[in-house]
Amino acid sequence: MTKKVWGGRFKQDTDALVNRFNASIEFDRRLYAYDIQGSIAHCRMLAAQGIIKDEESTRIVEALGQIQRELDHGEISFEEGYEDIHGLVEKALVQKIGALGEKIHTGRSRNDQVALDVRLYVRDVSQGVMERIKETQRALVALAEENLDVVMPGYTHLQRAQPVLLAHHLLAYHEMLKRDHERFREGLERINVMPLGSAALAGSTFDLDREMVARELGFGRISRNSMDAVSDRDFVLEFLFNASVLMMHMSRLSEELVIWSSQEYGFVRISDAFCTGSSIMPQKKNPDLPELIRGKTGRVYGHLMSLLTTMKGLPLTYNKDMQEDKEALFDASDTVHICLEVMCRLLGEISFNRERLKEAIQRGFLVATDLADYLVRKGLTFRQAHEIVGKMVLLAMDQKKELHQLTLNEMKGFNRQIGEDVYEWLDPLLSPARRNGLGGTGPDRVKQAIEEAREELGMDNNKGGAGG
Ligand code: ARG
Repeated sequence: MTKKVWGGRFKQDTDALVNRFNASIEFDRRLYAYDIQGSIAHCRMLAAQGIIKDEESTRIVEALGQIQRELDHGEISFEEGYEDIHGLVEKALVQKIGALGEKIHTGRSRNDQVALDVRLYVRDVSQGVMERIKETQRALVALAEENLDVVMPGYTHLQRAQPVLLAHHLLAYHEMLKRDHERFREGLERINVMPLGSAALAGSTFDLDREMVARELGFGRISRNSMDAVSDRDFVLEFLFNASVLMMHMSRLSEELVIWSSQEYGFVRISDAFCTGSSIMPQKKNPDLPELIRGKTGRVYGHLMSLLTTMKGLPLTYNKDMQEDKEALFDASDTVHICLEVMCRLLGEISFNRERLKEAIQRGFLVATDLADYLVRKGLTFRQAHEIVGKMVLLAMDQKKELHQLTLNEMKGFNRQIGEDVYEWLDPLLSPARRNGLGGTGPDRVKQAIEEAREELGMDNNKGGAGG
């Protein structure tokens, strides 16, 4: 172990097990760029306030730049027993410029430093996630557009319910992702608060210019309470919650891709490049990718629950328990990133089996509600109509027919007012067009939704289809 940044009051060396258990360098090393960025801003402010000399600041900032480059190129070893990334950067600084390097920690604590680093990290990854959400939305909208003329069974309780446009179904996920994007964007407002100057917990005796540091680092606000600033991890929890909801949405879409690609459904074909096989069953082609996205959702939820639990009993202010925020955060953000990347590509690798979907809407009395609505137009109450159509379904089931296969006379037996025009209401392909209300599955509405989505997502309009 290198010399401790806090070694002064200790008579004994730290036990090796304690070093191993206590250290966070193995995972917080990925914060190095943020740590250095924060140190540079802090150092410039110290000079501007006359707390250190300008030439001292120049040398420190220069050395920090070098350290950043060396870390970028893997030229600094993490193996030398550093406790955490803050210690490593400070030690590297001292190695370069001697005791002057130690001045960087004037008016600062690792407590406000780590709060800053994590905020910078969460700000960055939130923006990355937001970009990827948009890409995935674009893939969904493109797929919806390609399949604008396809009608499929809509389900409730996983039972065939009513005909809907496949594009409408796909755009439902676009709406979910849009809200996910909004949530990450709104989270940025609470992330973008600058904690430096809080020091260990009580603030600093030095005359720090916190506004200057905030400006240098692009923060919109500075924290208002030093004790809150060093002990708050709400912003990490919020990120984990937003990530969990996003994963839940992707998991539902994944689940649909899994069942749709089964032989039982046969609605979807996933390209060979995006499937895997079996080591024993030669015929198998498995949808491992959507399964893995579905599976990894549990792991992101787990990180949310783990940090919520870590935080729940902590007295103010900083407690070492909080070091546990990082692995949860890093793993969740890595998981979300890769899942979005995979989902986005996967959506470009699926094709719908139009024949199969066309067959599917013919079975299961999908137009029963349309028929009831037809009877309401003939003057019945909806309850009367519902009852009659229920009976007609029973008759059709008895005869192993669909509703449109009943004769006009058979139908008239249920209600005299049923006329030849009923057959139009029994064609599932014509059903969506009757639902052209706002938010409905009518082709005009869906086309409009696609146009709006393309506009929002900045998609170029030369791809043909409904986008133009
Ligand atoms: N590695 C620590 C963490 O991740 C850094 C802050 C340490 N502060 C302290 N007072 N021990 O939370």
